[in-house]
Amino acid sequence: MNIKYLASTMSLSLALAGTASALTLTEQVGKNIFFDTNLSEPAGQGCVSCHDPSAGFAEPDKNLPVSEGVIPGRFGGRNSPAAAYATFTPLFTLSGGVRGGQFWDGRAADLTAQAEGPFLNSLEMNNTSKEQVLDKIYAASYGNDFRQVCGTYTATTVNTVYTCMASTIAAYEGTSELNKFTSKFDAYMAGTATLTAQEEQGRQLFSGNAKCAHCHTDSGSRTVPALFTDFKYHNIGLPKNTEFPFSATTPTDLGLAGTTGNSKHNGKFKTPHLRNIAETGPYMHNGLLKTLKDVVHFYNTRDVAGAWPAPEVPATVEGSFLGNLGLTDAEEDALVAFMMTFSDQ
Ligand code: HEC
Ligand code: HEC
Repeated sequence: MNIKYLASTMSLSLALAGTASALTLTEQVGKNIFFDTNLSEPAGQGCVSCHDPSAGFAEPDKNLPVSEGVIPGRFGGRNSPAAAYATFTPLFTLSGGVRGGQFWDGRAADLTAQAEGPFLNSLEMNNTSKEQVLDKIYAASYGNDFRQVCGTYTATTVNTVYTCMASTIAAYEGTSELNKFTSKFDAYMAGTATLTAQEEQGRQLFSGNAKCAHCHTDSGSRTVPALFTDFKYHNIGLPKNTEFPFSATTPTDLGLAGTTGNSKHNGKFKTPHLRNIAETGPYMHNGLLKTLKDVVHFYNTRDVAGAWPAPEVPATVEGSFLGNLGLTDAEEDALVAFMMTFSDQ
Protein backbone atom coordinates (compact mmCIF):
# COMPACT_ATOMS: atom_id res chain seq x y z
CA MET A 1 0.00 0.00 0.00
CA ASN A 2 1.27 3.41 -0.84
CA ILE A 3 1.14 5.57 2.25
CA LYS A 4 1.83 8.67 0.20
CA TYR A 5 -1.52 8.46 -1.51
CA LEU A 6 -3.52 6.74 1.20
CA ALA A 7 -2.73 8.79 4.22
CA SER A 8 -4.98 11.79 4.36
CA THR A 9 -4.11 12.95 7.83
CA MET A 10 -0.96 12.75 9.85
CA SER A 11 -2.61 10.58 12.47
CA LEU A 12 -3.67 8.13 9.78
CA SER A 13 -0.18 7.93 8.34
CA LEU A 14 1.21 7.42 11.83
CA ALA A 15 -1.35 4.74 12.54
CA LEU A 16 -0.33 2.97 9.33
CA ALA A 17 3.35 3.23 10.12
CA GLY A 18 4.92 -0.02 11.11
CA THR A 19 1.94 -2.21 10.25
CA ALA A 20 3.16 -4.92 7.90
CA SER A 21 0.92 -4.41 4.93
CA ALA A 22 0.51 -6.69 1.93
CA LEU A 23 2.11 -5.35 -1.21
CA THR A 24 0.18 -5.06 -4.47
CA LEU A 25 1.43 -7.18 -7.38
CA THR A 26 3.15 -4.14 -8.90
CA GLU A 27 4.87 -3.27 -5.61
CA GLN A 28 5.93 -6.90 -5.10
CA VAL A 29 7.44 -7.04 -8.60
CA GLY A 30 9.29 -3.79 -7.86
CA LYS A 31 10.56 -5.27 -4.61
CA ASN A 32 11.79 -8.42 -6.39
CA ILE A 33 13.69 -6.29 -8.90
CA PHE A 34 15.12 -4.04 -6.16
CA PHE A 35 16.58 -7.03 -4.28
CA ASP A 36 17.67 -9.05 -7.36
CA THR A 37 21.46 -9.10 -7.68
CA ASN A 38 21.34 -11.05 -10.97
CA LEU A 39 20.32 -8.03 -13.02
CA SER A 40 23.83 -6.59 -13.40
CA GLU A 41 26.47 -7.47 -16.02
CA PRO A 42 28.08 -9.69 -14.83
CA ALA A 43 25.63 -10.83 -12.10
CA GLY A 44 26.38 -9.74 -8.54
CA GLN A 45 24.97 -6.27 -7.99
CA GLY A 46 21.44 -4.94 -7.46
CA CYS A 47 19.85 -1.80 -6.12
CA VAL A 48 20.09 -3.41 -2.69
CA SER A 49 23.91 -3.57 -2.94
CA CYS A 50 24.13 0.21 -2.54
CA HIS A 51 20.76 0.78 -0.83
CA ASP A 52 20.61 -1.77 1.97
CA PRO A 53 17.64 -1.92 4.39
CA SER A 54 20.08 -2.36 7.29
CA ALA A 55 21.67 1.00 6.38
CA GLY A 56 18.48 3.04 5.95
CA PHE A 57 18.47 1.91 2.28
CA ALA A 58 21.86 3.64 1.72
CA GLU A 59 25.36 2.19 1.11
CA PRO A 60 26.08 -0.56 3.67
CA ASP A 61 29.89 -0.19 3.47
CA LYS A 62 30.70 2.53 5.98
CA ASN A 63 34.27 2.80 4.70
CA LEU A 64 33.26 3.78 1.19
CA PRO A 65 32.71 7.49 0.60
CA VAL A 66 31.48 6.62 -2.92
CA SER A 67 30.04 3.33 -4.20
CA GLU A 68 31.80 0.69 -6.28
CA GLY A 69 30.08 -0.73 -9.36
CA VAL A 70 29.70 -4.40 -10.31
CA ILE A 71 33.06 -4.16 -12.11
CA PRO A 72 35.67 -3.99 -9.29
CA GLY A 73 37.61 -0.74 -9.24
CA ARG A 74 34.94 1.28 -11.03
CA PHE A 75 33.70 3.92 -8.62
CA GLY A 76 31.01 6.53 -9.04
CA GLY A 77 31.84 10.05 -7.88
CA ARG A 78 29.24 10.33 -5.13
CA ASN A 79 28.04 8.81 -1.89
CA SER A 80 24.85 6.66 -2.08
CA PRO A 81 21.92 8.49 -0.51
CA ALA A 82 19.00 6.68 1.12
CA ALA A 83 16.34 5.28 -1.21
CA ALA A 84 14.01 5.26 1.82
CA TYR A 85 11.79 8.35 2.13
CA ALA A 86 12.92 9.51 -1.35
CA THR A 87 9.31 9.04 -2.46
CA PHE A 88 8.37 12.26 -0.68
CA THR A 89 10.77 14.42 -2.71
CA PRO A 90 8.64 16.58 -5.04
CA LEU A 91 9.19 16.63 -8.80
CA PHE A 92 12.19 18.66 -9.92
CA THR A 93 11.19 22.25 -10.63
CA LEU A 94 13.08 25.42 -11.61
CA SER A 95 10.24 27.85 -11.12
CA GLY A 96 10.18 29.84 -7.89
CA GLY A 97 13.60 28.58 -6.76
CA VAL A 98 15.05 25.18 -7.62
CA ARG A 99 13.42 22.41 -5.63
CA GLY A 100 12.93 18.64 -5.66
CA GLY A 101 14.18 15.93 -8.00
CA GLN A 102 16.16 12.75 -7.38
CA PHE A 103 19.95 12.44 -7.00
CA TRP A 104 22.21 14.94 -5.24
CA ASP A 105 21.87 17.23 -8.26
CA GLY A 106 18.16 16.67 -9.08
CA ARG A 107 18.88 15.36 -12.57
CA ALA A 108 16.11 12.73 -12.46
CA ALA A 109 12.68 14.31 -12.13
CA ASP A 110 11.15 11.46 -10.13
CA LEU A 111 11.76 7.92 -8.84
CA THR A 112 10.74 6.25 -12.10
CA ALA A 113 13.23 8.30 -14.10
CA GLN A 114 15.82 7.61 -11.39
CA ALA A 115 15.31 3.82 -11.47
CA GLU A 116 15.89 3.64 -15.23
CA GLY A 117 19.53 4.72 -14.78
CA PRO A 118 21.56 2.31 -12.61
CA PHE A 119 20.98 -0.81 -14.77
CA LEU A 120 22.66 0.85 -17.77
CA ASN A 121 25.33 2.85 -15.91
CA SER A 122 28.78 1.35 -16.58
CA LEU A 123 29.90 2.50 -13.10
CA GLU A 124 26.98 0.65 -11.54
CA MET A 125 25.09 -2.37 -12.92
CA ASN A 126 26.75 -2.12 -16.34
CA ASN A 127 24.13 -3.58 -18.74
CA THR A 128 24.47 -2.47 -22.35
CA SER A 129 20.79 -2.33 -23.39
CA LYS A 130 17.26 -2.18 -22.04
CA GLU A 131 16.55 -5.50 -23.79
CA GLN A 132 19.38 -7.11 -21.82
CA VAL A 133 17.84 -5.97 -18.52
CA LEU A 134 14.29 -7.01 -19.45
CA ASP A 135 15.41 -10.44 -20.71
CA LYS A 136 17.01 -11.11 -17.32
CA ILE A 137 13.79 -10.10 -15.56
CA TYR A 138 11.66 -12.38 -17.77
CA ALA A 139 13.99 -15.27 -16.88
CA ALA A 140 13.73 -14.61 -13.12
CA SER A 141 11.41 -16.51 -10.76
CA TYR A 142 9.09 -13.48 -10.74
CA GLY A 143 9.26 -13.12 -14.55
CA ASN A 144 5.62 -14.07 -15.10
CA ASP A 145 4.41 -11.61 -12.48
CA PHE A 146 6.45 -8.95 -14.26
CA ARG A 147 4.88 -9.90 -17.62
CA GLN A 148 1.44 -9.55 -16.02
CA VAL A 149 2.25 -6.01 -14.86
CA CYS A 150 4.32 -4.64 -17.76
CA GLY A 151 3.81 -7.05 -20.69
CA THR A 152 6.33 -8.48 -23.14
CA TYR A 153 8.35 -6.02 -25.17
CA THR A 154 8.59 -5.82 -28.95
CA ALA A 155 10.99 -3.70 -31.00
CA THR A 156 8.56 -0.80 -30.78
CA THR A 157 7.50 -1.15 -27.12
CA VAL A 158 10.84 -1.78 -25.42
CA ASN A 159 11.05 1.78 -24.06
CA THR A 160 7.52 1.65 -22.66
CA VAL A 161 8.06 -1.74 -21.02
CA TYR A 162 11.41 -0.59 -19.57
CA THR A 163 9.79 2.54 -18.08
CA CYS A 164 7.01 0.34 -16.67
CA MET A 165 9.75 -1.78 -15.06
CA ALA A 166 11.24 1.33 -13.44
CA SER A 167 7.80 2.42 -12.23
CA THR A 168 7.33 -0.86 -10.35
CA ILE A 169 10.51 -0.03 -8.39
CA ALA A 170 9.16 3.47 -7.71
CA ALA A 171 5.91 1.89 -6.50
CA TYR A 172 7.84 -0.33 -4.10
CA GLU A 173 9.85 2.67 -2.89
CA GLY A 174 6.53 4.32 -2.04
CA THR A 175 5.48 1.59 0.39
CA SER A 176 5.69 1.54 4.16
CA GLU A 177 8.58 -0.97 3.90
CA LEU A 178 10.85 1.97 3.10
CA ASN A 179 8.87 4.74 4.76
CA LYS A 180 8.19 3.40 8.21
CA PHE A 181 7.84 6.49 10.42
CA THR A 182 8.55 4.32 13.47
CA SER A 183 11.37 6.36 15.00
CA LYS A 184 11.58 7.62 18.57
CA PHE A 185 11.09 11.10 17.12
CA ASP A 186 7.74 9.97 15.63
CA ALA A 187 6.71 8.44 18.95
CA TYR A 188 7.69 11.68 20.68
CA MET A 189 5.59 13.69 18.20
CA ALA A 190 2.68 11.31 18.79
CA GLY A 191 3.07 11.82 22.55
CA THR A 192 3.99 8.21 23.27
CA ALA A 193 7.69 8.68 24.09
CA THR A 194 9.72 11.24 25.98
CA LEU A 195 13.12 12.54 24.96
CA THR A 196 16.08 12.34 27.34
CA ALA A 197 17.38 15.68 28.64
CA GLN A 198 20.24 15.54 26.12
CA GLU A 199 17.92 14.74 23.18
CA GLU A 200 15.61 17.55 24.23
CA GLN A 201 18.56 19.97 24.39
CA GLY A 202 19.50 18.83 20.86
CA ARG A 203 15.93 19.30 19.66
CA GLN A 204 15.91 22.88 20.87
CA LEU A 205 19.32 23.64 19.38
CA PHE A 206 18.30 22.08 16.05
CA SER A 207 15.69 24.74 15.41
CA GLY A 208 17.36 27.32 17.65
CA ASN A 209 21.01 28.37 17.95
CA ALA A 210 22.35 25.64 15.62
CA LYS A 211 19.95 26.77 12.86
CA CYS A 212 19.73 23.30 11.28
CA ALA A 213 15.97 23.48 10.76
CA HIS A 214 16.47 26.45 8.46
CA CYS A 215 17.28 23.86 5.76
CA HIS A 216 16.40 20.55 7.47
CA THR A 217 12.74 21.49 8.06
CA ASP A 218 11.63 19.92 11.31
CA SER A 219 7.88 20.32 10.99
CA GLY A 220 5.69 17.94 8.99
CA SER A 221 2.85 18.72 6.62
CA ARG A 222 -0.76 17.74 7.15
CA THR A 223 -0.11 14.37 5.51
CA VAL A 224 3.57 13.60 6.08
CA PRO A 225 5.57 13.81 9.34
CA ALA A 226 8.80 15.85 9.35
CA LEU A 227 11.46 14.67 6.86
CA PHE A 228 14.09 17.28 7.81
CA THR A 229 14.62 18.74 4.35
CA ASP A 230 13.53 21.83 2.44
CA PHE A 231 14.13 19.88 -0.84
CA LYS A 232 16.25 22.86 -1.94
CA TYR A 233 19.87 23.19 -3.07
CA HIS A 234 22.72 24.75 -1.09
CA ASN A 235 26.51 24.98 -1.12
CA ILE A 236 27.51 24.38 2.50
CA GLY A 237 31.22 24.82 1.69
CA LEU A 238 32.52 21.26 1.86
CA PRO A 239 36.19 20.73 1.02
CA LYS A 240 37.09 18.23 -1.70
CA ASN A 241 37.40 14.64 -0.53
CA THR A 242 40.99 13.63 -1.29
CA GLU A 243 40.86 10.16 0.29
CA PHE A 244 41.39 8.15 -2.86
CA PRO A 245 44.21 8.33 -5.38
CA PHE A 246 41.70 8.89 -8.19
CA SER A 247 40.27 11.98 -6.50
CA ALA A 248 43.26 14.04 -7.66
CA THR A 249 42.15 13.58 -11.26
CA THR A 250 38.41 13.91 -10.55
CA PRO A 251 37.06 17.22 -11.86
CA THR A 252 35.29 19.58 -9.47
CA ASP A 253 31.77 18.31 -8.78
CA LEU A 254 29.50 21.22 -9.75
CA GLY A 255 26.32 19.58 -8.39
CA LEU A 256 23.10 21.30 -9.43
CA ALA A 257 24.86 23.32 -12.16
CA GLY A 258 25.51 20.03 -13.97
CA THR A 259 21.74 19.67 -14.25
CA THR A 260 20.73 23.27 -14.97
CA GLY A 261 23.81 24.61 -16.79
CA ASN A 262 23.55 27.75 -14.63
CA SER A 263 26.86 28.77 -13.01
CA LYS A 264 24.96 30.32 -10.07
CA HIS A 265 24.19 26.70 -9.14
CA ASN A 266 27.85 25.61 -9.01
CA GLY A 267 28.59 23.49 -5.96
CA LYS A 268 24.98 23.31 -4.75
CA PHE A 269 23.55 19.97 -3.66
CA LYS A 270 20.11 18.88 -2.51
CA THR A 271 19.46 19.06 1.23
CA PRO A 272 19.13 15.39 2.18
CA HIS A 273 16.38 14.24 4.50
CA LEU A 274 17.71 13.07 7.86
CA ARG A 275 15.52 10.00 8.43
CA ASN A 276 17.69 7.06 9.68
CA ILE A 277 20.68 9.38 9.51
CA ALA A 278 22.57 7.45 12.23
CA GLU A 279 22.64 4.44 9.84
CA THR A 280 23.64 6.09 6.57
CA GLY A 281 27.21 7.33 7.10
CA PRO A 282 29.60 8.42 5.74
CA TYR A 283 27.94 11.76 5.07
CA MET A 284 27.61 14.40 2.34
CA HIS A 285 27.63 14.00 -1.46
CA ASN A 286 31.34 13.18 -1.37
CA GLY A 287 31.31 11.05 1.78
CA LEU A 288 33.84 13.41 3.38
CA LEU A 289 32.46 13.39 6.93
CA LYS A 290 32.49 10.03 8.69
CA THR A 291 30.36 10.57 11.79
CA LEU A 292 27.44 12.74 12.88
CA LYS A 293 29.80 14.40 15.34
CA ASP A 294 32.08 15.36 12.40
CA VAL A 295 29.04 16.79 10.59
CA VAL A 296 27.95 18.96 13.50
CA HIS A 297 31.53 20.03 14.16
CA PHE A 298 31.84 21.10 10.51
CA TYR A 299 28.72 23.30 10.71
CA ASN A 300 29.95 24.68 14.01
CA THR A 301 33.53 25.51 12.95
CA ARG A 302 33.70 25.75 9.12
CA ASP A 303 34.64 29.43 9.27
CA VAL A 304 37.06 29.18 12.20
CA ALA A 305 40.49 29.97 10.75
CA GLY A 306 42.55 26.87 10.07
CA ALA A 307 39.84 24.43 11.17
CA TRP A 308 39.00 23.04 7.71
CA PRO A 309 40.50 23.03 4.21
CA ALA A 310 39.04 25.54 1.74
CA PRO A 311 35.69 24.77 0.12
CA GLU A 312 35.78 22.90 -3.21
CA VAL A 313 33.55 25.55 -4.84
CA PRO A 314 34.14 28.85 -2.98
CA ALA A 315 32.07 31.22 -5.14
CA THR A 316 28.61 30.09 -4.03
CA VAL A 317 29.20 29.09 -0.40
CA GLU A 318 26.37 30.13 1.93
CA GLY A 319 27.45 32.30 4.82
CA SER A 320 24.27 32.67 6.83
CA PHE A 321 22.99 29.98 9.18
CA LEU A 322 26.22 28.00 9.38
CA GLY A 323 29.98 28.22 9.69
CA ASN A 324 30.68 29.63 13.13
CA LEU A 325 27.86 28.66 15.46
CA GLY A 326 29.76 28.95 18.73
CA LEU A 327 28.37 25.67 20.06
CA THR A 328 30.10 23.93 22.97
CA ASP A 329 31.27 20.34 22.69
CA ALA A 330 28.31 19.23 24.84
CA GLU A 331 25.92 21.09 22.54
CA GLU A 332 27.43 19.31 19.52
CA ASP A 333 26.82 15.99 21.31
CA ALA A 334 23.23 16.98 22.08
CA LEU A 335 22.54 17.60 18.39
CA VAL A 336 23.95 14.16 17.57
CA ALA A 337 21.77 12.57 20.28
CA PHE A 338 18.68 14.28 18.83
CA MET A 339 19.47 13.07 15.29
CA MET A 340 19.85 9.53 16.62
CA THR A 341 16.13 9.61 17.49
CA PHE A 342 15.36 9.73 13.72
CA SER A 343 16.12 6.01 13.29
CA ASP A 344 13.21 3.69 12.54
CA GLN A 345 12.77 1.00 15.17
C1 HEC B 1 26.85 1.06 -7.33
C2 HEC B 1 25.96 1.56 -6.31
C3 HEC B 1 24.53 1.85 -6.70
C4 HEC B 1 23.60 1.00 -7.30
C5 HEC B 1 23.81 -0.42 -7.80
C6 HEC B 1 22.35 1.72 -7.30
N1 HEC B 1 22.50 2.95 -6.73
FE1 HEC B 1 21.07 4.30 -6.36
N2 HEC B 1 22.44 5.68 -5.97
C7 HEC B 1 23.80 5.47 -5.87
C8 HEC B 1 24.50 6.73 -5.81
C9 HEC B 1 26.00 6.92 -5.69
C10 HEC B 1 23.51 7.73 -5.88
C11 HEC B 1 23.73 9.24 -5.90
C12 HEC B 1 24.20 9.60 -7.30
C13 HEC B 1 24.11 11.06 -7.62
O1 HEC B 1 23.47 11.82 -6.88
O2 HEC B 1 24.67 11.45 -8.66
C14 HEC B 1 22.21 7.03 -5.94
C15 HEC B 1 20.98 7.66 -5.92
C16 HEC B 1 19.76 6.99 -5.80
C17 HEC B 1 18.48 7.59 -5.49
C18 HEC B 1 18.22 9.07 -5.23
C19 HEC B 1 17.90 9.37 -3.80
C20 HEC B 1 17.84 10.86 -3.53
O3 HEC B 1 17.44 11.24 -2.43
O4 HEC B 1 18.21 11.67 -4.41
C21 HEC B 1 17.55 6.58 -5.49
C22 HEC B 1 16.07 6.68 -5.21
C23 HEC B 1 18.25 5.35 -5.84
N3 HEC B 1 19.60 5.64 -6.01
C24 HEC B 1 17.66 4.12 -6.06
C25 HEC B 1 18.32 3.08 -6.74
C26 HEC B 1 17.65 1.97 -7.40
C27 HEC B 1 16.16 1.78 -7.49
C28 HEC B 1 18.64 1.17 -7.91
C29 HEC B 1 18.48 -0.09 -8.74
C30 HEC B 1 17.81 0.08 -10.01
C31 HEC B 1 19.91 1.78 -7.54
N4 HEC B 1 19.68 2.94 -6.87
C32 HEC B 1 21.16 1.21 -7.81
C33 HEC B 1 24.40 4.22 -5.84
C34 HEC B 1 23.82 3.09 -6.39
C1 HEC C 1 22.04 26.24 4.49
C2 HEC C 1 21.30 25.03 4.61
C3 HEC C 1 21.72 24.01 5.65
C4 HEC C 1 21.89 24.20 7.02
C5 HEC C 1 21.73 25.49 7.81
C6 HEC C 1 22.23 22.91 7.57
N1 HEC C 1 22.27 21.96 6.58
FE1 HEC C 1 22.76 20.02 6.79
N2 HEC C 1 22.82 19.79 4.78
C7 HEC C 1 22.50 20.76 3.86
C8 HEC C 1 22.90 20.34 2.54
C9 HEC C 1 22.70 21.09 1.24
C10 HEC C 1 23.52 19.09 2.70
C11 HEC C 1 24.20 18.26 1.61
C12 HEC C 1 25.52 18.93 1.29
C13 HEC C 1 26.40 18.22 0.31
O1 HEC C 1 26.52 16.98 0.35
O2 HEC C 1 27.04 18.91 -0.51
C14 HEC C 1 23.43 18.76 4.12
C15 HEC C 1 23.87 17.57 4.70
C16 HEC C 1 23.68 17.23 6.04
C17 HEC C 1 23.93 15.93 6.60
C18 HEC C 1 24.42 14.70 5.84
C19 HEC C 1 23.26 13.96 5.25
C20 HEC C 1 23.66 12.78 4.40
O3 HEC C 1 22.75 11.98 4.07
O4 HEC C 1 24.83 12.63 4.02
C21 HEC C 1 23.61 16.00 7.93
C22 HEC C 1 23.69 14.87 8.95
C23 HEC C 1 23.21 17.35 8.21
N3 HEC C 1 23.26 18.07 7.03
C24 HEC C 1 22.85 17.84 9.46
C25 HEC C 1 22.75 19.21 9.74
C26 HEC C 1 22.77 19.78 11.07
C27 HEC C 1 22.86 18.97 12.35
C28 HEC C 1 22.69 21.13 10.91
C29 HEC C 1 22.74 22.19 12.00
C30 HEC C 1 23.94 22.18 12.81
C31 HEC C 1 22.61 21.41 9.49
N4 HEC C 1 22.67 20.21 8.81
C32 HEC C 1 22.50 22.67 8.92
C33 HEC C 1 21.92 21.98 4.14
C34 HEC C 1 21.98 22.60 5.39
